[in-house]
Amino acid sequence: MQQKQIQLNYSITDNESELGKDFARMKTAALGALKGSYAPYSGFYVSCALLLENGEIVCGTNQENAAYPAGVCAEGIALGSASTLYPGVKIVSAFITAKSAHKTISNPVTPCGICRQRFVEVEKFQQHPLDIIMQGESGDIVLVQGAAQLLPLGFTNKDL
Ligand code: THU
Repeated sequence: MQQKQIQLNYSITDNESELGKDFARMKTAALGALKGSYAPYSGFYVSCALLLENGEIVCGTNQENAAYPAGVCAEGIALGSASTLYPGVKIVSAFITAKSAHKTISNPVTPCGICRQRFVEVEKFQQHPLDIIMQGESGDIVLVQGAAQLLPLGFTNKDL
């Protein structure tokens, strides 16, 4: 069989100023929204801030449920809110961060598989790349340009 590789390109920095003013706005918004996270079961409080093409920022936080699978990730809430509040407005980037009741999160918080699928759906629909920016409470910031990079060989509408 022929061997092939898929490469993931990402940027990493511990210097927030390298990401510019919009990143600072997103981070402030995401941290402010964290208080809305409802995570009594995991103690893992996640916030996602989306930057829209019109300059607006829309946030979402994870919402858990006693019936665990009924819980929704921060990214899902943010994406649903953005398309409800600003239908048809492209989403340029997403910033994801988290806090934990149990430990300090010093690694970048990466989206779960379902949220990667959600991001790719938006990216395909809007025909515009959606950058994913991730950081813990502190530490390195990781930037992935184009959500599809996070879902190699992913399932999309072209497969239907
Ligand atoms: N969580 C998110 O909100 N986003 C992710 O991408 C990863 C996980 C939430 C789901 C659950 O409420 C908690 O984090 C622990 O898994």
